[in-house]
Amino acid sequence: MDTEYSFSSLNRSLFGEDFAWGVSTAALQIEGSCDVDGKSASIWDTFSSKKGKILNGDKPTHACDFYKEYQRDIDLVKQLNIPNFRFSIAWSRILPNGTGEVNQAGIIHYNQVIDYCLQQGIEPWVTIYHWDLPQILEDNGGWTNRKIVNWFSNFVTVCAQNFGDRVKYWMVMNEPAVFTGAGYFLGIHAPGRTGLRNFLPAIHHVVLSIVAGAKILRELCPDAQIGNTFSCSYIEPYADKPKHIAAAKRADALINRLYIEPLLGLGYPTEEVKALKGINKYILPGDEANMSFDFDFIGVQNYTREIVKYSFFTPYIGASLVKAQDRGVELTEMKWEVYPPCIYEMIKKFNAYPQIKKLIITENGAAFPDVVFNNEVDDQRRVTYLQTHLQQVLKAKQEGYNVEGYFVWTLTDNFEWAEGYHPRFGLVYIDFETQHRIIKNSGRWFAQFLG
Ligand code: NOJ
Repeated sequence: MDTEYSFSSLNRSLFGEDFAWGVSTAALQIEGSCDVDGKSASIWDTFSSKKGKILNGDKPTHACDFYKEYQRDIDLVKQLNIPNFRFSIAWSRILPNGTGEVNQAGIIHYNQVIDYCLQQGIEPWVTIYHWDLPQILEDNGGWTNRKIVNWFSNFVTVCAQNFGDRVKYWMVMNEPAVFTGAGYFLGIHAPGRTGLRNFLPAIHHVVLSIVAGAKILRELCPDAQIGNTFSCSYIEPYADKPKHIAAAKRADALINRLYIEPLLGLGYPTEEVKALKGINKYILPGDEANMSFDFDFIGVQNYTREIVKYSFFTPYIGASLVKAQDRGVELTEMKWEVYPPCIYEMIKKFNAYPQIKKLIITENGAAFPDVVFNNEVDDQRRVTYLQTHLQQVLKAKQEGYNVEGYFVWTLTDNFEWAEGYHPRFGLVYIDFETQHRIIKNSGRWFAQFLG
């Protein structure tokens, strides 16, 4: 093995006392109980009920049954010695009409989850929005309707008022580039809309909503740490030729810069991707002042790298990804390349923005084909994935880059969006027929590492 990836010396103390170790989840992917206790449908409940949208026709109806059995999984977080637990709040449980009347059963549920974490000595890290928009709001235009800034502000206010006395770490939204790109441009995620006429207004309304939400949190929870999480991939050109290098720059603007830059006050990367200029139509007078925020931390979520080449036939961007399966590299179940230096490169890239105070890796992990044998799961590839990526995080930290935490995606196997239950990302295996759980060897390794 390449010495750069060696991890024999990896140990927790090298990251420092204050480094935040955690595990990340999301409501729709784990909760199940999609229509109980007053919850209304989310766009993912609707989308997954349509034919052909989710692999194997899987649905989030039961998922990991976390809504009913949250104690079982928080006990596992504790058993694995993980001090921080990240989860999200289902908007449709709290405000079944999207806005207005608050459903007390939803409030009670998240109060129980937060309180149980705290009783176990686990710090709750809350994502306000992790992709599960109430369907009723989508029926009124969803993220393409500017009114959503008010709808979302209402939701954030209710969360801050009810949970802000105990939650000290907030992430306003999760991976805006993915839920708008896949959900409003490519149509492969809920709500399944396509094209620039949906994508462009959604982008701008999401930016305004993130900032509105962050300001509300700042006002109502002045002592809390407020962040937002961003997907990113390390991008490299297919070959050292000007046309591929330029294509890689455009892909980088769309994949890595689209949200972080306006939110840091740098505007949309329209120079690289001309089609984004169409956003100007949705920017109203006075918006500039409401498009950026001074976040306490930025959540970086990285899994892989992408190789990009020039493509005449790809509209708007003139670039395409060279699929990892055509490159003869090691793949995860998501067909993503395993390339540990990518996380180091992303830490470096985000550190180059002087406006960013602190980075936390809020997601990193891998899906591999796990096999149960004698009630054990020997997932050595995941152990190696985590170790080699952590080695890169440590390298960045030792070189002086500002990275202050690492959260594994994810605690248990769960509902992986359009891929259904097929990809297993968990430190804990779930038999979805019986809900039986088995701590994988990766979970045991992480517990030992955190010791
Ligand atoms: C990104 C998302 O935040 C999460 O919901 C998803 O399951 C993982 N990455 C893996 O794809």
